[in-house]
Amino acid sequence: MTQNQSTTLRTHLCGVLRAGDAGTTVRLCGWVGRRREHGEHLAFVDLRDHSGIIQCVIDNSVDVRSEWVIAVTGTVRPRPDGTVNPGLDTGEIEIGDCTVEVLNEAEPPPFPVDDRTDADEPVRLRYRYVDLRRPRMQRNLRLRARVNAAIRAAMDRQGFCEVETPLLWAPTPEGSREFSVPARLHHGSFYALPQSPQLAKQLLMVGGVDRYYQIARCLRDEDLRADRQFEFTQLDMEASFATQDDVMGFVTEAVLNAAEAATGERPPDIARMTWADALDRYGTDKPDLRFAMELVDLTAAFADTGVKAFAAPVVKAIGVPGGASFTRSRLDQLTEQAKRAGASGLAWFRVTAGPALEGPLDRFLSESERGRVLEKTGAGEGDLILAVADVYRTACTVLGMLRNALGSPPVGQGPHRYVWVTDFPMFDGVDASGNPQAAHHPFTMPYAEDLPLLDSDPAAVRSQAYDLVLNGWELGSGSVRIHRSDIQSKVFATLGITDADAEARFGFLLGAFRYGAPPHAGFAFGIDRLAAILAGEENIREVIAYPKTQSGADPLTGAPSPLPAATLAELGIRVVVPPGP
Ligand code: AMO
Repeated sequence: MTQNQSTTLRTHLCGVLRAGDAGTTVRLCGWVGRRREHGEHLAFVDLRDHSGIIQCVIDNSVDVRSEWVIAVTGTVRPRPDGTVNPGLDTGEIEIGDCTVEVLNEAEPPPFPVDDRTDADEPVRLRYRYVDLRRPRMQRNLRLRARVNAAIRAAMDRQGFCEVETPLLWAPTPEGSREFSVPARLHHGSFYALPQSPQLAKQLLMVGGVDRYYQIARCLRDEDLRADRQFEFTQLDMEASFATQDDVMGFVTEAVLNAAEAATGERPPDIARMTWADALDRYGTDKPDLRFAMELVDLTAAFADTGVKAFAAPVVKAIGVPGGASFTRSRLDQLTEQAKRAGASGLAWFRVTAGPALEGPLDRFLSESERGRVLEKTGAGEGDLILAVADVYRTACTVLGMLRNALGSPPVGQGPHRYVWVTDFPMFDGVDASGNPQAAHHPFTMPYAEDLPLLDSDPAAVRSQAYDLVLNGWELGSGSVRIHRSDIQSKVFATLGITDADAEARFGFLLGAFRYGAPPHAGFAFGIDRLAAILAGEENIREVIAYPKTQSGADPLTGAPSPLPAATLAELGIRVVVPPGP
């Protein structure tokens, strides 16, 4: 903000003037904010540009209205005693003796240009150019620009080379639905917009680029949520002759540098946790470390139980501080939530004075079971204990979901807690044909010592894949890649991908790998997500200039929209309108 942003049309920015500038003649340009009459002859006008607001005292006869674009020439002077506004950076001063030049008139804005807006989001997006004038949006866009600059600086310092990769490209095996673009010169054929530069960057490694990065636009046609847009931006990177630890080091440097640029404080180094540990203690691979409520294991406590509900392979629980005050209907809702998430039920105990347990099952517990439940959960009077008895994975994930629902502050609030999650399983679940599915993507390298398990126990194979998590959001993921064709064939075989399949889908990559592929590893993190959290926002739309609505529309331009018949003909496309109801 200290740069001199004077131009031929202005001498200063509105928000940078201070009491020390008193006596200076200035020419400022901006938009008219609030206007207040001051006696018969004068009016106060708040003049706004991206740097802030300053009060100008103008002649009451001058016709300027809300959001008109004006230039004001005048002299900086201290405000009279008793009229200082401590809530405004320029609150000690005002511009007096003003000459006003109207540069452009404006229609009344559809909503006030103010941080406190109650305009609905579709209206904000319809008039995004007005919405962007709000100080909060200006702060967010500028914070994001600082994040990008800091990432570039960190990557440059670490010897990475920025390379742009195509947007018109072939399908990427990243697992999401892709956007397709019809090829005018090849009727019936389509480009895919990249879900990420994954394959392009691996080819760059074969091409000897050694360390690649890109602030890359990615496109995925998936359901939109607070942390998802069709179009988003990644810091994408890949390095040759590098291990998982090297890559985590490069990424840490970029992320911490970005966080420091955004907030002024460099976060401490980022802790690590294995995937198995994250599941065990937090019930998710995206642990939110801003609060405790860790999962505890009560299986041993109920080893000889007579309670049928607890006769399961595993019993796990969380303590909810202060949760004893939950009403019965709240507890019923939690039970429903647990069932929808796959549990057969949810056991609850209020901790009352004593401490004692109170709940539908308490009278069936033995004295020693009660004691161990209290001891293991560490719960005290006024707390609530929630327990799930099930197979291990279900018990963990259901309690993880409840832990987040009951404990997570909004994502942009509170401290920023980063954590690396490592050692993901290679495969997760099975597809329709019963074949294991790749947890990350099919080019992820298993740990060497787990390779023999590919045949005997694929579910136990750990991959050299790692995620970065911030406040419970997945910020990014990456892996060491398979660069040897024998291992790649083996993984394809486990996934049920035949050689012919593999050749058809990513033959160009496998072909390149026959020409000298170095060992390589990489990562990508979502810049929208990082910027949103650093800006204290709950939704990535707040840090994107022109986001889509929840239904994928752009109210500003009206996109998506039908194409004229002539354009369709040129593309060789006939639109089949679904029959009406
Ligand atoms: P992945 O698919 O995990 O990995 O994506 C990496 C990060 O990109 C961000 N992200 C999104 N952000 C906003 N809207 C979306 N729809 C969206 N989808 C993903 C997230 C996510 O963590 N090629 C691999 C990386 C690699 O292996 O190098 C990849 O894209 O922050």
